Amino acid sequence: MEYQHENIAEVARLLHERLPQLENKIDVLKAPELRDLYSTLATLPNEQKASFGRELNDLKASLQKLVASAGEKHEKLAPIDVTAPFDVNAPRPQLLSVEQGSVHPLNREIAVLRDTFYRMGFAIEESREIDDQYHMFETLNFPKGHPARDDYDTFMTEERDTNGEPLVAPAHTSTMQNRVLKKYARNLERGEAIAVVVPDRVFRNEDLDARHEHTFYQFEGVYVAKGVHAGMLIATLQTFLESYYGQELEVRVNPYYFPFTEPSFEFTLSCPFCQKKGCHVCGQAGWIELLGCGMIHPNVLKSAGIDPEVYTGFAWGGGVDRLVMMKYGIEDVRHFQSGKLDFLRQFA
Ligand code: DAH
Repeated sequence: MEYQHENIAEVARLLHERLPQLENKIDVLKAPELRDLYSTLATLPNEQKASFGRELNDLKASLQKLVASAGEKHEKLAPIDVTAPFDVNAPRPQLLSVEQGSVHPLNREIAVLRDTFYRMGFAIEESREIDDQYHMFETLNFPKGHPARDDYDTFMTEERDTNGEPLVAPAHTSTMQNRVLKKYARNLERGEAIAVVVPDRVFRNEDLDARHEHTFYQFEGVYVAKGVHAGMLIATLQTFLESYYGQELEVRVNPYYFPFTEPSFEFTLSCPFCQKKGCHVCGQAGWIELLGCGMIHPNVLKSAGIDPEVYTGFAWGGGVDRLVMMKYGIEDVRHFQSGKLDFLRQFA
């Protein structure tokens, strides 16, 4: 017994001597002598374990204190001279090794989506995270006081735009319709179509649950040319979805209402999980309501300076999170923003 306690004292002396020479002070806690003492502890008879263990823990705690205070001293000793030239020989800070990071599943899927639409001939644009009510409502045929404005309840800033209205965190990617129509209007003069997809982040003042987030992603599509009709809208979305889910799908459209499309539809696809047999993903319906779409309202074309007597077009807007959740059987939308590594690592 005495012999064991002397061991601790001996190791303590050794390690205190070694500490000043160590470049990384924390290495003292990994010293083989310390590890050996812990192995010894496991072999001791029960009546000796308690006192030996206590003494060993005291030693470890005192070493930890020394390591921590060495770090503090170091910080105090090294003020940074911001006028000095870079020290090219400075050691690099410790970073996580690249294997530990991964692309977020939403970003990865947005890259697939962008790539698919790009190959279908669409240009890709970004939205913004602060916008004005003119783009969120007026250009989309929601005049002031329109009751459908209530469906797009979102966050506002105290800062106001030139009309004196608060700026908003856009509640849908449709805020970009007017801008992309104007930006690509020259395509029409050249006899080409305006064909743009905008995948980006949107915000809503929502009560959160497994299907609702305050921050999520949508992908907006806009296509304008001469003689465009609703059949082309359905074919475009079906082509994209079959490519995305890697299987043939049936699609249906049901009448719906949006101020910025006439007629408006709700686009429904046969459930890619159960092939219409009914499962928990589609709520036993065999069909999934996926996104809103329709033929662009003449007033929306007019507000971008496009003559609705000459050109027609279709548009759609759908949730990216929903698309990805269905692809991978993710049951709760809140996982995406949670930053939880055990969720993210499944997609690494
Ligand atoms: N912006 C709509 C929403 O978030 C979705 C939508 C419906 C977009 C129809 C469109 C459209 O472009 O034509 O609820």
